[in-house]
Amino acid sequence: MLKKTRVAVFVSGGGSNLEALLQSEVSGGMPFGEIALVVSNTQGAYALERANNHGVEGVCIPSRGNSGFEEELQALLMARHIDIIVLAGFLAILSADFVGKWPERIINIHPSLIPSFCGKGFYGLKVHEAALERGVTLTGATVHLVNEIPDGGRILLQKAVEIRPDDTAKTLQQRVMEQAEWVLLPQATAQLCQELSEKLSEGV
Ligand code: GAR
Repeated sequence: MLKKTRVAVFVSGGGSNLEALLQSEVSGGMPFGEIALVVSNTQGAYALERANNHGVEGVCIPSRGNSGFEEELQALLMARHIDIIVLAGFLAILSADFVGKWPERIINIHPSLIPSFCGKGFYGLKVHEAALERGVTLTGATVHLVNEIPDGGRILLQKAVEIRPDDTAKTLQQRVMEQAEWVLLPQATAQLCQELSEKLSEGV
């Protein structure tokens, strides 16, 4: 029996991507992983309630004006024996120093087809506003490894979503979530968990 990979999910808001991960675990979509911890960098994030509803530990470590944020985060992750981190609507940028401690162990979901509409300043609804403003007819979502460059790590999975003439940023955001994000993120997480479980059990 392989050891399950312990996953921490980082969130900032509503947590619909977290919900997709939790549902996937419940329905057996993540046989080599377990969601062991949810961390929010904003107070009152609904995502923490979702964690609670699933019996998963949820912790808030505010990032704003908190110079010790990443140290607190790292200490918590170590204390909970976390193996990988999934950024699921986590809207703070992690430092190169922090990311360097987790090589190939952090993945992120971004709501566009990288390299379009990504990098610093492109998050949440702003990404969809930019796509509509530019007039592209296709957008989508990307899961990628996280390195020191915002949205710059190796791409793992992408899925395209058509833009409709009557789309608003909100309708587009919803469709990109439904058709791409909630499918790709559990898939990529399960894949990474399996790879790591196999590595860890081989003692690599
Ligand atoms: C999602 O669309 C996610 O892709 C995006 O924020 C939203 C969070 O929604 N993330 C980024 O823009 C990261 N650059 P959720 O809290 O309902 O999962």
